[in-house]
Amino acid sequence: MKLLTIAIDGPAASGKGTLAKKLAHHFGYAYVDTGAMYRALTLQAIRTNTDMHDEDALVALLQTMKLEPTVSGGIRINGIDVSNEIRTPEVNEYVSTLISIYPKVRESMVALQQQLGDRGGIIMDGRDIGSVVLPNADVKIFLIADVEARAKRRFKEYQQRGIDDSYESVLEVLKERDYADMNREADPLRQTADAIALDSTNLSIDEMFEAAIKIIDAKQKETY
Ligand code: DC
Repeated sequence: MKLLTIAIDGPAASGKGTLAKKLAHHFGYAYVDTGAMYRALTLQAIRTNTDMHDEDALVALLQTMKLEPTVSGGIRINGIDVSNEIRTPEVNEYVSTLISIYPKVRESMVALQQQLGDRGGIIMDGRDIGSVVLPNADVKIFLIADVEARAKRRFKEYQQRGIDDSYESVLEVLKERDYADMNREADPLRQTADAIALDSTNLSIDEMFEAAIKIIDAKQKETY
């Protein structure tokens, strides 16, 4: 059976990571969380006091970083695991509204992601995977969910991890991030004509997984 390239795009907290990890495990594929790469650059900019309004300084900072996405959806910067540190409200805020808006930052990230995705047997998730990073992906899934459902999920995750934030603030930040992701000039979040939309608002994780498997099976049948 041909090893597939699978692209999953969608807004923040839509369940992309959860779905991608389950699919990667199911098929024995590699998984690359491209959001983790933008988050890692944001974390490094915070730690090194790099001016987040200075696009060239951010590109230079990225060049000093060896980014290694891990199979579990985490990431290492220069060999050090920062998977937890990249998932904080502070990183969430800067990653969408500043770091990911810069065309030169995106160009460098896309080149790195294309190197990582240059083979079959891979699942990559993000905002521009089907549209820019892997336009020839075998399967493109566009995962959506109502913003309130996504805010509930993110709030629950924060509570489990002991992060102190209110539901109202989580919802507000998600709305801001949606706006930033969909309206930035460079590679905004959008569904391509060949992507299949999957709405996870009322689906459990298992139901979302089953629906994705159906989409992938149907695509495979189409191909052969
Ligand atoms: O998927 P995530 O929430 O971890 O992504 C964090 C941010 O990174 C997201 O708000 C926008 C940016 N991002 C992007 O611009 N392009 C991608 N392919 C992935 C993420």
